[in-house]
Amino acid sequence: MNVGQASSPFDGNIVTVAARSYDRAMKVNGKHTRTIWLETDGWSVGTIDQTLLPYRVAMLRLATPDDAARAIKTMQVRGAPLIGAAAAYGVCLALHADASDESLARARAMLLATRPTAINLKWALDEMAAAVRTAPREARVAAAYRRAAEICDEDVANCQAIGRHGLNLIEEFAARRPNKPVNVLTHCNAGWLATVDWGTATAPIYLAHDKGIDIHVWVDETRPRNQGAALTAWELGQYGVKHTVIADNTGGHLMQHGLVDMVIVGADRVTARGDVCNKIGTYLKALAAKDNGVPFFVALPSPSIDFAVSDGIAEIPIEQRGAEEQSTMTGRAADGRIETVQIVPDGSDVANYAFDVTPARLVTGLITERGVIEATRAGLAKVFPERASGAKF
Ligand code: MRU
Repeated sequence: MNVGQASSPFDGNIVTVAARSYDRAMKVNGKHTRTIWLETDGWSVGTIDQTLLPYRVAMLRLATPDDAARAIKTMQVRGAPLIGAAAAYGVCLALHADASDESLARARAMLLATRPTAINLKWALDEMAAAVRTAPREARVAAAYRRAAEICDEDVANCQAIGRHGLNLIEEFAARRPNKPVNVLTHCNAGWLATVDWGTATAPIYLAHDKGIDIHVWVDETRPRNQGAALTAWELGQYGVKHTVIADNTGGHLMQHGLVDMVIVGADRVTARGDVCNKIGTYLKALAAKDNGVPFFVALPSPSIDFAVSDGIAEIPIEQRGAEEQSTMTGRAADGRIETVQIVPDGSDVANYAFDVTPARLVTGLITERGVIEATRAGLAKVFPERASGAKF
């Protein structure tokens, strides 16, 4: 079976610089790849173990739905769109072993319970259920792998389109200040590692870099798991984009001194009225941006919009993760060993809220695959009418 091979969604309109294929952005040691793929056996799934980056690039093979659930829960795969793609393949793996309704329901419940905040997980599981539910049992497995491959291809296409729309914004800044770099601040990892390819917040940055625009990225380290320092810095480095890793609390200072032209972050869930849930600390960056007149953009594909919720602060479940993520740090020691060390006193209570909500009023614009839109109910409903029409608000 080879139903999951990714097709190239590139529409040829992105940029017209050097002869190079623009259907893939992600480069690991100069080699193009995606974050998730079907293995050569035609049914098991390959991905990158993100818990080992930036020290080691190691591939992970998922052969059962439990493997997929574990990889999501332990954040070997992470980032809202990639979580959705991995869950979709988790359903494939369940049906590959047993194509019954019970198997589908069991896999769906297990995968849905892995992480509560990113809505792409539920979206992808709903898509998979819709794709296989009415298929006769003997056709289910192929239907599942086909839909999972489409979900991946759609994510790549969405991220490319986000890149094109975001590139226009970066070009405006570049034109306003010739001979000066455009300084973008980003938080967490909303890059190719968080998606199937390109990334959301990073897609405009990669396109700007490819176009020869002088661009520099301030990378929030993003405690407690350091997705900025470990993952965003790594992938920007792989692509050759200039970047500087900063402590999470530095952004406000940089903005006060005119060192940030724009903020671009990703999203784990955007509500019908435009509230943005993203990695913990995003809200504080949005406040600092507002206070300093720095535009604050959120890049997201439409599967990250949850039209079933409106008030993000009241309605989005915020994942709380293990205390050890906060009370320890992992890094490479001088002798090359990867070590985890404790950084808080024995006995101190520790809290680890993984996400926060930035109210829509602090968001300058949402960079989506259909364009840059206002973070308002009307703005979202106008651009995504087919999704908004079924919403309860
Ligand atoms: O906990 P994580 O690492 O999965 O959180 C990821 C983020 O918050 C990203 O910014 C978000 O998923 C957007 S990804 C394109």
